[in-house]
Amino acid sequence: MTSGEREQRLAFLGLTEDDAQLLRALRPVLEPQVDAIVETFYAHLLKFPATAELLRDTVTIARIKQIQRDYLLRITEGIFDEAYFANRLRIGQAHERVGLSSRWYLLEHGLLFNLLTPLIRQHFTGDPGRADATIAALEKVFMLDAALATEAYIASDRHRHLQQLDSIVNDSADVIFSLDMEGHFRSWNRAAERVFGWLSEEILGRHLSEIIPPELLRQGELVQIERDILGHGHCHLETRRLAKDGREVPVEVMVSLLRDPQGNPIGRSAILRDITERKRLEEDKLQSERLAVIGTMSARLAHEIRNPLSSVTLNLELIRDEVAALTHQNPATGGEARELLRALDSEVKRVQRVTEDYLKFARLPRPRCQPVALNELLDQQLGFMNSSFAANHVKLVTDFAGNLPVLQADEDQLWQAVLNLIRNALEAMPTGGTLTVRTAARDGWVGLSIADTGKGMTEEERQNLFKPFFSTKVGGTGLGLPLTQQVVVEHAGTIRCESAPGTGTTFVIELPTQ
Ligand code: HEM
Repeated sequence: MTSGEREQRLAFLGLTEDDAQLLRALRPVLEPQVDAIVETFYAHLLKFPATAELLRDTVTIARIKQIQRDYLLRITEGIFDEAYFANRLRIGQAHERVGLSSRWYLLEHGLLFNLLTPLIRQHFTGDPGRADATIAALEKVFMLDAALATEAYIASDRHRHLQQLDSIVNDSADVIFSLDMEGHFRSWNRAAERVFGWLSEEILGRHLSEIIPPELLRQGELVQIERDILGHGHCHLETRRLAKDGREVPVEVMVSLLRDPQGNPIGRSAILRDITERKRLEEDKLQSERLAVIGTMSARLAHEIRNPLSSVTLNLELIRDEVAALTHQNPATGGEARELLRALDSEVKRVQRVTEDYLKFARLPRPRCQPVALNELLDQQLGFMNSSFAANHVKLVTDFAGNLPVLQADEDQLWQAVLNLIRNALEAMPTGGTLTVRTAARDGWVGLSIADTGKGMTEEERQNLFKPFFSTKVGGTGLGLPLTQQVVVEHAGTIRCESAPGTGTTFVIELPTQ
């Protein structure tokens, strides 16, 4: 508090040097009585639960008595300087700290006043005017002290309130920030730092457009938000925002008008909820609904195609016999016809394969689980594929964990799932490479990884890997990896893929052992 502010308070109360002198003259009256006054004060405090509960231990009691003694004697020094004000302001803070409500402290002045006035009157019996003036001076000091303590109480109350607000904002799981009227960041909470990767000191002062994807800016999203705010005072929308590393974060946004205490707009406040997880769940749900529809449709389609296809195959057989007979008469034409038939046959076989794939996917039965020793299964099945690896110039490396727990799984389905991954790996290495098959055990789980040294995938390909019909391969049905995923999920396991262009691809399946 500045000396000007102190002077102002003293002048307002009319606490003058005359009062100070009267108070100084009170010292010889007070000093012999101070212990008795303090004891009465203490006994009074014990009568009320709110004050008595703060006076439990002897150390505190002794301290409070000493504090009261010093307090009363300090008044009779009649010096209202910087130290006096600082001491009085501290009283409010000390009481705040021990949880003493301001009302007891303020009322206690009344008690002290009641104890002191009879003493003063008695002392100045022959001079009632002096007694009145001294009592008036004492009253002013108590008023000053009460006012200073109230100020301290209010200040620490506001401080606590601000701290609480700060904690609400900073410890919130949602992103909270505010902007000035020009759209520059003015505050940025911890969740915002976590979700967007910008530290508060980095982003404060920058413009909101830092976190808006450019195409949304072009489409005028901010203009639309402003229009809503001006119309309704707030705006609620689901959109995307940009993190520092360029990542897009799906968010639910609530923007409101920020006003000063007089109600004038001074900016915007925004609460953003990261809805990545919710979006993923929605996408998964959509995906399984899509799969169900695809399942039914492909079963129907495959069924419809199957019968005509077998009659086409049969008729092809018959034609082949006819052609064989004709070849005897006209060898040149016969050769050509045989060639055409071979082409037809291979196309029909391809359609049959695709149809079978669809049927397998659509009618994946519930797994019939039995104990499966994964290492042995892989060993045996991979052994059958040696010629295929050699033909593709692929070197097989296996790294099987010893003591792998036995799995409860549908062996056929499991191998089918693994086979799809191996096929995928071979297709990713058209000019050869290394295929590494690993198994591992981790408490309650068995892991299986299949890694190739092929061309790797783009982020988009990786994201869409398990979506039916997304295949980027010529002639692929796009159902191989979705089928693998379905098998893994049916076995309560998980599958993930790590890949980047040029670095090869690794699929990791984890299956529970229980
Ligand atoms: C006119 C009335 C009162 C005055 C002038 C007064 C003055 C003070 C002062 C100067 C302090 C020490 C501040 C510091 O740490 O610098 C203090 C602390 C304290 N006061 Fe008061 N007080 C008054 C009333 C009360 C009442 C009614 C209670 C009720 C129990 C109370 C309980 C305490 C307690 C518990 C402490 C903390 C003691 C410690 O540090 O352990 N005071 N008071």
